[in-house]
Amino acid sequence: MAAMRKVVFVDGVRTPFGRAGDKGMYAGTRADDLAVKALQGLIARNPNLPLDRIDDVGIAATTQQGDQGLTLGRTAAILAGLPQTVPGFALDRMCAGAMTVTSFLSAAIIAGQYDIAVAGGVEHMGRHPLGLDADPNPRFIAEKLVSPDALNMGVTAERLHDRFPQLTKERADRFGMLSQHKVQAAYDRGDIQADLIPVATRSAAGWGLATEDEGRRPETSMEGLAGLKTPFRPHGRVTAGTSSPLTDGATMSLLAGADTAKELGLAPKMRLVSFAYAGVQPEVMGLGPVPSTEKALKKAGLTISDIGIFELNEAFAVQVLSFTDHFGIADDDPRVNPWGGAIALGHPLAASGTRLMIQLARQFEQRPDVRFGLTAMCVGLGQGGSMIWENPHYNGKKGK
Ligand SMILES: CC(C)(COP(=O)(O)OP(=O)(O)OC[C@H]1O[C@@H](n2cnc3c(N)ncnc32)[C@H](O)[C@@H]1OP(=O)(O)O)[C@@H](O)C(=O)NCCC(=O)NCCS
Repeated sequence: MAAMRKVVFVDGVRTPFGRAGDKGMYAGTRADDLAVKALQGLIARNPNLPLDRIDDVGIAATTQQGDQGLTLGRTAAILAGLPQTVPGFALDRMCAGAMTVTSFLSAAIIAGQYDIAVAGGVEHMGRHPLGLDADPNPRFIAEKLVSPDALNMGVTAERLHDRFPQLTKERADRFGMLSQHKVQAAYDRGDIQADLIPVATRSAAGWGLATEDEGRRPETSMEGLAGLKTPFRPHGRVTAGTSSPLTDGATMSLLAGADTAKELGLAPKMRLVSFAYAGVQPEVMGLGPVPSTEKALKKAGLTISDIGIFELNEAFAVQVLSFTDHFGIADDDPRVNPWGGAIALGHPLAASGTRLMIQLARQFEQRPDVRFGLTAMCVGLGQGGSMIWENPHYNGKKGK
């Protein structure tokens, strides 16, 4: 068999993430405009890209209605000023939407059908609250296909605490606090801002400009977290401090065949090694990234110890800890979410997969000692998604 074509992640950008709700910075901003803004930012940053060579634009959203419906990949492409010859589509795999767009467009590139593609996601959870207008088939409950617990993500996180009593509230609180502190440290160094596309905002107070993630709480302390309510269960263990907050935001990335990138002078930030998805019991959906990562590692011929940076979506602290515990990784291992994660930055569902990639790509640049990185996330109704990436800056001298 001929050697398979390689796919590279050329670039990725995102809007700053906003707190969902009436007081959030994007309360007066359309969901599709967030995606358009991210797409325009991506194009502006890559002037060597011949726009008519883009084979497809895939944009994920979990709730595809209203200003977040109407085949976002196509509508955002037109609104962003791409040539009308460039097609687009929308896709849903809940939290792993953008990750799924990325992996499937990558597969099209590997198969030689596409040369260049745009992959991203958007979720305006303020305008499209989690589960609004969802109409789960009554058979799910009537036939006990899943427990009602499986339909509320916070309750699935409580279930993880039940299943693994060693994952205590104290460990989850510490993880949540460190996420906040690590994000602030990355902000202080200017690492996060490098990939943010500012967005003009409008509110009763007039025009504004979103330049930073809005939900951060750098002052978080263990004492402060200890006193928070447990919204998902009376006397539970999951709090707002150990959950990803409800978030508005969009992400966008540029993928290409390694040969096409070379031809066009587009410098790769990451090379795709493998990807996999897997299903688990919906009641403990947070465990999903464990089997998806095992599958992706197997396909790559790697083991967990080959991974030098883990970018794990922090849907909930306990959910990340169930992953790290499974693989024997310490709660505060410096390889895990070195710049913090979704608990502090926010988790605009379908958009988050690309946020993990953006953050990994930027770290690869700074860490030529690291060869492989993992982006992984859990997905509602019991799934996990994992993508393994190779660092093109790897100097082959030290580390993994
Ligand atoms: C957990 C959740 C219900 C909290 O929602 P909320 O109550 O609107 O959140 P808030 O930001 O208002 O925080 C609640 C309280 O905790 C406090 N708080 C939150 N984070 C804190 C922190 N790190 N340190 C100290 N206090 C904190 C807030 O100040 C607020 O206090 P108040 O009630 O005195 O005003 C919501 O974020 C949620 O549903 N998250 C999960 C989303 C989800 O399921 N995503 C999909 C994953 S698969």
